[in-house]
Amino acid sequence: MKGGYTHFMEKEIFEQPETIAQTMQGRVKITPLSPMKYAVPGIDPYLMPRVRMGGLVDHVSTIRRSRRLMFIACGTSYHAAMACRQTVEELTEIPVVLELASDLLDRRCPIFRDDTCVFVSQSGETADTFRALEYAKACGALCVGVTNTVGSAIARNTHCGIHINAGAEIGVASTKAYTSQIVAITMMALVLSEDAISKRQRRDEIIDSLCQLPDMVRRTLKLNDQIKQLAAELKDEQSCLMFGRGRNYATAMEAALKVKEVSYMHSEGINAGEMKHGPLALVDDKLPIVVVSTMDSMHSKMAGVIQQLMARNGRLIVLANEEDDEMVDIVAGKYPIIQVPRVDDALQAVVNIIPLQLLSYHLTTLRGFNVDQPRNLAKSVTVT
Ligand code: M6R
Repeated sequence: MKGGYTHFMEKEIFEQPETIAQTMQGRVKITPLSPMKYAVPGIDPYLMPRVRMGGLVDHVSTIRRSRRLMFIACGTSYHAAMACRQTVEELTEIPVVLELASDLLDRRCPIFRDDTCVFVSQSGETADTFRALEYAKACGALCVGVTNTVGSAIARNTHCGIHINAGAEIGVASTKAYTSQIVAITMMALVLSEDAISKRQRRDEIIDSLCQLPDMVRRTLKLNDQIKQLAAELKDEQSCLMFGRGRNYATAMEAALKVKEVSYMHSEGINAGEMKHGPLALVDDKLPIVVVSTMDSMHSKMAGVIQQLMARNGRLIVLANEEDDEMVDIVAGKYPIIQVPRVDDALQAVVNIIPLQLLSYHLTTLRGFNVDQPRNLAKSVTVT
């Protein structure tokens, strides 16, 4: 059942090139060409949609008219929505609100009939997310499910939805579902923006990058030996920080959740934009800090963050892109650097989380804990 792997978490991390492809199968035209390049004379190439989502077809026009898109989830599923927020806003031009299901219920947050609420849940059975769904339905909102379990409570009770098709996830730590959720929500944003002429070029860039994503994830998994070595250097630490900004704030949050959940090492995801508002006081030459600094629109700001952390003698581990010579110069052999392939900004969070999933996996096995069944946790949280 573990297919030659020692643990389900390890298997599920290494399955991701295939699970991401499965999420796209039958939905994205797998061609690395933009429509202009395979245009048939006399036919507008843009009349041939490159992304289709059968589960949304009947509701696309309602969603496009929404006042807000509210993404409601818990844990890793919440982080997946966070990683997609900017892409969804950029493509749809509809404001996106993120809500932790429990907090939304605690506040009895106002929801309106012209809101669309998107419930993201691997299991489709999480009690808080399901209760939030009942609440949003009672408020009259259109409810969309993004789940990995056909026939689950959330899949059955939403008005429409997307099955992420990542296959059963057994390890309590969610890994392959996270990357497939990002891919599915990105595809949803592509479908919702299909009729926007001003977005055509941007949509093509993202779709071309989606087509290459399984190969890029496969390449990233080759970092496994380097990450195992890094985990060996960190395994006796009590704490580590994860810094990210923009879309990669979600990467920092998700990496920190993964590390604490399975390895029991304290870890905190920090928005690098908040660094000077408190976290900087923690920096010394002992506390490991992973800085996610790939070449997206936050790159120059993150380079500045790294320089400030270096000036305070921080103990850094830098996650950068393969072709980022500037970052290699800044780090100048003083700190470990993890170099991942570059993909479109909208999808870089998928690639960036892979080495950090591996880090949490190796930290856990080296510390001698049960990586598939961490203490006190259940795969599906069916009580509130
Ligand atoms: O099944 P769901 O996606 O609704 O689960 C939500 C969280 O309980 C889940 O993501 C949890 O945070 C994971 N164990 C994290 O790895």
